[in-house]
Amino acid sequence: MSLDQLYAPIEADMRAVDGVIRARLHSDVVLIRQVAEYIIGAGGKRLRPALLLFVANAMGYRGTHHHELAAVIELIHTSTLLHDDVVDESELRRGRSTANAMFGNSAAVLVGDFLYSRSFQMMVSVDDMRVQRVLAHATNVIAEGEVLQLLNVHNADVSVEDYMRVIHYKTAMLFEAATRLGAILGGADEDGQERMAVFGRHIGTAFQLIDDVLDYSGDEAATGKHLGDDLAEGKPTLPLIHAMQAGTPEQAAAVRRAIEGGGRDEFAAIMDSIRATDALAVTAGYARAEADKAKAALSSLPASVFKESLLQLCDFAVARDY
Ligand code: IPE
Ligand code: IPE
Ligand code: MG
Ligand code: MG
Repeated sequence: MSLDQLYAPIEADMRAVDGVIRARLHSDVVLIRQVAEYIIGAGGKRLRPALLLFVANAMGYRGTHHHELAAVIELIHTSTLLHDDVVDESELRRGRSTANAMFGNSAAVLVGDFLYSRSFQMMVSVDDMRVQRVLAHATNVIAEGEVLQLLNVHNADVSVEDYMRVIHYKTAMLFEAATRLGAILGGADEDGQERMAVFGRHIGTAFQLIDDVLDYSGDEAATGKHLGDDLAEGKPTLPLIHAMQAGTPEQAAAVRRAIEGGGRDEFAAIMDSIRATDALAVTAGYARAEADKAKAALSSLPASVFKESLLQLCDFAVARDY
C-alpha cells in the first residue's frame, strides 16, 4: 500500500499540517525562504506528523492543537536533515541536490537553526508545559545521538548495542516524541502516554534500521538519496557490524578497513561481504522484531481506522523501499 493510501483517514489533517508548515516558513530574510522552501518543497514522507495525527485521532482528540504540533515535529525533522547532510557530506536528498550542495554548508546550517528555533516558537504558542518538556527532551537527545554517532565514525569496534543506542537517540526519539504528543493531545494518562512512546520508539528504530539497509540496497530513484553514503563516511551501521561478526576473517578484515578508511572505493567488495553474510536480511530481521514490538504496544488502543493505519505503518517501516 502506498503512503497516500495509508494516510487516507487523515488526509484533511495532513493538508492542514502542510498549510501550517508553509505559513510558518515565512521570514523577511530572502535566503531563509529560499532554502526552507527548497527542502520543504521537495516533499518527504511526512511520517512523523502522520504518526502524531493518527495517535491523537485514535484517542478521540477533538481539539485544535494537533496541526500545529504535527508541523512542529516535521520542522524539527527538517532542521535535523539540513544539519545531518552537512555532517554526512551528502549530496542528494528527496531526489534533489542537498541544501548544502546547492547553497553551501553555512546556509544549510543557519537555515537549519532557523527552522529549529521557529519550531520552538510554534511549540510555545500551544502553551502546554507537558508538550514543551517532551520536545525539549527529544531535541536534546537527538543532538546527543548525532554527536555519539560522530564519535563512532571510523570505529570498527562499535557493538550492536552501541549502534542501537545511536539510532534510538538520533531517530527513534523524534518518533517517540511525535507519538507521545499524540497521546497527550488525546488525553491519555501517564501509562497511556508511555505506551504510545514505546510504540514510537520501536517503529522509529525499525525505520532507521531499514534506512541503513537502503543505504546499501536502495534504488536512488526511489529513496532520493545516494547509495553508499554510510560507507563513504565510515559509519559502522548494523549491516557492516553483522558482516564483520559473521564473515570469514578476510571479509571481516575488508569491512574493518572500509570503516576505518571510509570512501567509496571498496563499495563492490563490501557488498560481496554483505551478501555472503546475509547482512541486509539480518538487519531487516531486527527491523521486523522492532515493528512487532511497536504493534504490541498498540494493543490497548480501541479499534478504529486510525489504529489500523498505525498497524499498517509498522509494516511500511519494514517493507518500504523509499
Ligand atoms: C530520513 O528520514 C532521516 C532518517 C531518520 C532516516 P525520512 O526518510 O523520514 O525523510 P523524509 O522526510 O521522508 O525525506
Ligand atoms: C538521520 O540519520 C538521523 C537524523 C537526521 C537525526 P542518517 O544520516 O542515516 O539519515 P539519512 O540517510 O542521511 O537520511
Ligand atoms: Mg545522513
Ligand atoms: Mg542513512
